[in-house]
Amino acid sequence: MVMPTIVIKNVSFNYSSPAKRPALDNVSVRIAAGSFVGIVGHTGSGKSTLASLIDGLGRPTSGQIQVGDVTVTAQSSPADLARLRQHVGYVFQFPEQQLFAETVGQDIAFGPTNLGWSPERVQAAVSDALKLVDLPATFADRSPFALSGGQMRRVAIAGVLAMRPAILILDEPTAGLDAAATHRLLANIAKLHAAGTTILLITHQMDQVAEYADQVVVMNQGHLVKSAPPREIFADPAFLAANHLNVPAAVGMAHRLRDAGVSVDPALSIDALADQLAAKLGGKHGE
Ligand SMILES: Nc1ncnc2c1ncn2[C@@H]1O[C@H](COP(=O)(O)OP(=O)(O)OP(=O)(O)O)[C@@H](O)[C@H]1O
Ligand SMILES: [Mg+2]
Repeated sequence: MVMPTIVIKNVSFNYSSPAKRPALDNVSVRIAAGSFVGIVGHTGSGKSTLASLIDGLGRPTSGQIQVGDVTVTAQSSPADLARLRQHVGYVFQFPEQQLFAETVGQDIAFGPTNLGWSPERVQAAVSDALKLVDLPATFADRSPFALSGGQMRRVAIAGVLAMRPAILILDEPTAGLDAAATHRLLANIAKLHAAGTTILLITHQMDQVAEYADQVVVMNQGHLVKSAPPREIFADPAFLAANHLNVPAAVGMAHRLRDAGVSVDPALSIDALADQLAAKLGGKHGE
């Protein structure tokens, strides 16, 4: 698999002109191949707009987007945008709304078929994609509309994974899912990341970002305010409040423990915090 780096240089984007304010205003960021990036920010801050430009769904009004050996600017042709899309899979918000085929298998096959793959390769891609989202092979013959909400979401994600994108963008993938489905989906995303896929996760759930991301991009009103590791982003409550971001549960709990005189290191997940407390209390953990 190609492992493309994403370099965004001075990108601005207006949906309409003259715009009230640009949806993206002079955004620059570098995302190394293989990263797990959380893209966060208040509603309307430009997260989905940024994602759509990385997926080549539009051209920047100014600046440039580079993904591997493909560079897109305001002057780029539709063919350039298509080359960008070859590297990227974009799971839209509520992707299950876009399911359309009679069977799960046909739905997942749609993207790979459009890439011109042979029927054998498409079939293999469909069964691999079902495995990646933890659905049994027998689901291929079922109607997508007879599934639960969480299963429909997984089928829709499988449709993107079947095309084997080097970069996977997920726009609020756990919105509307219950705790169990959320946990399962994040575990699958983490598995894809471990296998080398670059993950861009757009979410309002700071717990997810704290636990999984190695880079956090904070957007506010079209500006990229900060790009840094989660430990740095979540260490500053005033910064979080100014950017309408919640404090992750583990970070908040660590603060309260320290306020109460229990010295713990800053933790980014509840599991990590529990391990620390267990070690302090002399439990069996780690023996
Ligand atoms: N299709 C569109 N036409 C015109 N303006 C748009 C369009 N989509 C988004 N915008 C505007 O662009 C700005 C950025 O929107 P965007 O959807 O990228 O934000 P977001 O961070 O994804 O928000 P949310 O968390 O609500 O999904 C907002 O001011 C929004 O109103
Ligand atoms: Mg959005």
